[in-house]
Amino acid sequence: MIQKPANARFEVAIVGLGYVGIPLAVGFAEAGCRTLGFDVDDLRIQELQSGDSPLITVSDDRIAPLIEKGLLTFTGDKRLLFESEAIIICVPTPLRTHLDPDIAFIVAAGEEIGPSLRPGMLVALESSTYPGTTREDLRKVLEEKSGLRAGIDFALAFSPEREDPGNEKSVLKEMPKVVGGLTPACLERAVELYSRAVRKVVPVSSCDAAEAVKLTENIFRFINIALVNELKRIYTPMGIDIWEVIDAAKTKPFGFMPFYPGAGVGGHCIPIDPYYLTWKAREFNLDTKFIELAGQINRSMPYYVVTQVVGALNAQGLAIHGCKILMMGVAYKPDIPDDRESPAYEVMDILREKGALVNYYDPFVPEIGPHGAPQHWMGLRSIEWNPEELSRYSVAVVCTPHHNVDYSELAAHVPLIIDACNIVPKDRKAKVIPA
Ligand SMILES: NC(=O)c1ccc[n+]([C@@H]2O[C@H](COP(=O)([O-])OP(=O)(O)OC[C@H]3O[C@@H](n4cnc5c(N)ncnc54)[C@H](O)[C@@H]3O)[C@@H](O)[C@H]2O)c1
Repeated sequence: MIQKPANARFEVAIVGLGYVGIPLAVGFAEAGCRTLGFDVDDLRIQELQSGDSPLITVSDDRIAPLIEKGLLTFTGDKRLLFESEAIIICVPTPLRTHLDPDIAFIVAAGEEIGPSLRPGMLVALESSTYPGTTREDLRKVLEEKSGLRAGIDFALAFSPEREDPGNEKSVLKEMPKVVGGLTPACLERAVELYSRAVRKVVPVSSCDAAEAVKLTENIFRFINIALVNELKRIYTPMGIDIWEVIDAAKTKPFGFMPFYPGAGVGGHCIPIDPYYLTWKAREFNLDTKFIELAGQINRSMPYYVVTQVVGALNAQGLAIHGCKILMMGVAYKPDIPDDRESPAYEVMDILREKGALVNYYDPFVPEIGPHGAPQHWMGLRSIEWNPEELSRYSVAVVCTPHHNVDYSELAAHVPLIIDACNIVPKDRKAKVIPA
């Protein structure tokens, strides 16, 4: 048993207030836990302190009342972490240029937390990462910076995040939470903490197993998306509509789960997490063949979409060079503003390399910011949605099927549409080509 520190001002502190950290902090506070949110981004802290949510999935009216009740406090002062009973880390885990894991944010968070650690605290990592990160890398930095021993003086655990941005049903309380501890005593503390805010906690035998759960969930998605992307490329020349096939197949009440094709995979999880395992497997002299193959297929999808554009233009005796092309959607999935790793940017890059004049429309991304897109697209603004503006384009390429977009109107004004998402009605004036 690792005794909790007495009289802690906060029951839990969340380090890293992004897509994962904000809903987690709000979820704990809504469950009645005195919660501290900490981030190194001062602007984000100011925004949250004034009750403004940067996420469309967490409305302002959930934050302000919690602040008023004293259940939720935001700070940029890491010394306040000292006053918490438990600390949960939700910082980014990107890839380096050559697809190697970059756990620098986790190490930096450990360096920040270390000096504030006191006996009895619990530290839980939620960032998606390879097995061994909590037990080896995070533990090392925490022990070095605090002089305390993990599993003896403080508890250490990993719990994967299952945030599903854009899905209103994805609330902390209802999402089963997998938890692994460094020791049984660490697990006990972590289960107790999460049980305050989550209905169902699922303990596993170790931090490594909990880390592997997250990677397994995302690798499953990554590979199945690659499979339907490949099937689309096989069925389309046969004159078979992949979406019709999937819709019919999913009526099977067992043994089939629908995944949908698209222009590739995006976001901060699916295109990244599988390579965390690939990297770790190399340490054991093992290959991750399925992951590599799925990666090849998913990464080739933007090229496939462009091939469809070139083919459709060619069929009309037109060239891509100089063609005005409108990208419909740059967010990586529908109805959210997150454009990190979005395959739409890859499509835009290839189109531009071929001489096309590319612009975009996305009601969720009014201007391309610094976090998602390659530098050269930064600052570009979404076009206005009106007939005059739409009519300037010869081709539209639909990469993100936002539900608040009027695709009939698009088809009334743009003559050729390459639809990677099966969302544009086919009975309109425009020629609609699946991609
Ligand atoms: N976005 C998702 O849907 C999702 C879902 C499941 C898991 N995850 C995982 O959760 C983790 C976080 O992802 P995210 O999407 O919330 O990232 P994000 O970029 O939206 O937010 C991360 C936040 O951490 C802050 N930060 C960075 N370094 C810090 C430090 N040293 N101390 C304090 N704050 C720091 C950043 O300023 C930022 O506000 C990643 O490992 C990701 O793979 C994300």
